[in-house]
Amino acid sequence: MTRAIEPRFRPKGRRHPKIYAFILECGGSSKTTSATSMATEGALRQYPGTVFDLDANRSTTRILGYDDEAMKGRKNVLDLIRGTATLDEVALPARYRIDDGYDDDAFAYIPGLRVVPSSAEMSSADTIIAEDADRQDWFAEILLSYEGDEDDVFWVDFPASYGRMVYSVIRMLDEDDSVIPSVRADPKDVGFLSALFEELDRVREKNRLRRSVPGRPTVDHIILTGTPTATYTESSARKATKLAEALYGELLTPYIRYSADAKKLYDDCCPLPILLPNSVPAVDYRKLMTGIGFPHRT
Ligand SMILES: Nc1ncnc2c1ncn2[C@@H]1O[C@H](COP(=O)(O)OP(=O)(O)OP(=O)(O)O)[C@@H](O)[C@H]1O
Ligand SMILES: [Mg+2]
Repeated sequence: MTRAIEPRFRPKGRRHPKIYAFILECGGSSKTTSATSMATEGALRQYPGTVFDLDANRSTTRILGYDDEAMKGRKNVLDLIRGTATLDEVALPARYRIDDGYDDDAFAYIPGLRVVPSSAEMSSADTIIAEDADRQDWFAEILLSYEGDEDDVFWVDFPASYGRMVYSVIRMLDEDDSVIPSVRADPKDVGFLSALFEELDRVREKNRLRRSVPGRPTVDHIILTGTPTATYTESSARKATKLAEALYGELLTPYIRYSADAKKLYDDCCPLPILLPNSVPAVDYRKLMTGIGFPHRT
């Protein structure tokens, strides 16, 4: 089904989709949990999407249906960085396991959702870009050559670092896109947010006079996860929530409360809204999606 494109998914009339970038230089901060949950919930609500896994740890790739065995012989995001394949050649239909084995019928597919899979070799992406300056434009080329005409959304899951590869993506964002760090309610994790704001300021300053790239990545929401509940009363979680409210109150989305269930998406390789739709975080991600502009579509 084709529908008229809502202008907010093509800011300033541009050809390529709105980009949601899950970025924070803090390992285990909940970026992947939020990226996969939101992209899946969006697709279930009829907002088609493409999830880019840029992390050599391949968490997003696994959760959306492709473990190392399934990836054998397939292209991955490094082919995009090297410029040896197109987006449509690399992107795979997102899926989750319903049976043993690797035949097609061992998986159920998530309509409207694609994943650009990562590879362990993504750890060398910074070097590839450093050795060939043209490769810095890999993400720019994807945006320029984008030809989809539906309300596609780009969800991008980043590694916990700010190197050349990360820069090659975030310099292509402007204030209509969304840098959306996902942080756990832990004072240490919340402390990493100020470094993200500094990094984005640096990117903006560096590109201030350029016309060929937008260069204005901007945080418009902060997701706080693992927040206290009636039974989860960890004092560090309460402290971190207060700290985040004091520092970033106006940017905070509705909270994603703590639940031990959140870990299960890694055991079962299935995104949370499908694996455990009634779990506390899945309920909270639904509320969050409505809150940031993805109401249910019919
Ligand atoms: N709402 C939640 N309640 C409890 N635990 C959570 C919640 N959300 C995420 N977690 C846990 O936090 C940990 C880190 O999550 P995740 O892998 O999404 O982070 P990440 O930022 O992508 O990490 P990395 O930098 O390693 O890629 C996981 O063990 C996950 O289960
Ligand atoms: Mg991750």
